[in-house]
Amino acid sequence: MTESLPLLLRAARGESVSRPPVWMMRQAGRYMKVYRELREKYPSFRDRSENPDLSYEISMQPFLEFEPDGVILFSDILTPLPGMGIDFDIVESKGPLINNPIRNFDQVKALNPLEPKASLPFVGEVLGRLRESVGNKAAVLGFVGAPWTLAAYVVEGKSSKNYSVIKAMAFKEPELLHMLLDHFAVSIANYLNFQIDSGAQVVQMFDSWAGQLSPIDYDTFAAPYQKKVVDLVKQVHSDTPFILYISGSAGVIERMASTGVDIVSLDWTVDMAEGCTRLPKDIGIQGNVDPGLLFGSPEIIRSRIIDTVIKAKGRKHILNLGHGILPGTPEENARVFFETGKNINELIAKI
Ligand code: CP3
Repeated sequence: MTESLPLLLRAARGESVSRPPVWMMRQAGRYMKVYRELREKYPSFRDRSENPDLSYEISMQPFLEFEPDGVILFSDILTPLPGMGIDFDIVESKGPLINNPIRNFDQVKALNPLEPKASLPFVGEVLGRLRESVGNKAAVLGFVGAPWTLAAYVVEGKSSKNYSVIKAMAFKEPELLHMLLDHFAVSIANYLNFQIDSGAQVVQMFDSWAGQLSPIDYDTFAAPYQKKVVDLVKQVHSDTPFILYISGSAGVIERMASTGVDIVSLDWTVDMAEGCTRLPKDIGIQGNVDPGLLFGSPEIIRSRIIDTVIKAKGRKHILNLGHGILPGTPEENARVFFETGKNINELIAKI
């Protein structure tokens, strides 16, 4: 019976599989012509991600084009914020903007605990529809932002270069930051449980900006809240594979594994073979391919993917990029990535 479950789900659970499954972070988005066309018709990011028909359609775009082994909900890590009382927008060429950044105790105390069913019904609907549409041809992935990364946005108020506002809070008023991080941890865990109840079969937490912390501060402001989310989700959904991604993670790889996640998603600044030796044997591994590689030639793209897969052999492995696919990536090169992943056994047999 489990034979028929999606390859990505079986691989993520540690079953032995014929090849590593393949999907891509940010696989729906601007590099695709169909997405850009739809964006012209619906210019607001919040519409595209909060209208269930649009979010469903965009989530399916890469599946219909490339048939990856995973289909990720089209949404954003910021999408749950309004449900907690924090308004945001995503502005072309500026990125996320928080209208009223969180900077004091009164604001943190005024936050609502997230009630996903009430404030994010569209997410539940889209996940259910995706699951029905892809059946066992692909696994449906849900995701959230981790407390530290969400806090970075809501405290800074926008994307930041050096995180000086949140670091001022961390190193001047740590109790305030801890209160905010704890609020996010509980809400985000509830949100993930809701996503799993609605159809997500594998989940990924993005702590994209935790690589900006030195390890001692990672242990203080990032890891305990990652672990709290993992624990609260595992209490309810112990068999749902949990992936953790951090950008700039080379200094904290071992720490990522001790949060209780099943799979660590690496960026490309560490060699895959070395990354594997730094993680316990039972921890799976994802990612590691430089998104910039997809600006290269098909031959070089293929050879790097083969190198990565060979280095991860013997591990639970999910083929993915080391961060989201970049805008401007030629679609044909995205296709090369997916096709190489799906034909990896034949390609390796030839060398
Ligand atoms: O992977 C997928 O296909 C699902 C879609 C997805 C989006 N955002 C859609 C999106 C996912 C998983 C995210 C997560 C996300 N959002 C992260 C974590 C992943 C990472 O990249 O580290 C972060 C940090 C954000 C916050 C955010 N949202 C940023 C930095 C931006 C880019 C701003 C810009 O204009 O470049 C966004 C906007 C966003 N989210 C876009 C997409 C496709 C681009 C805007 C658009 O297409 O109109």
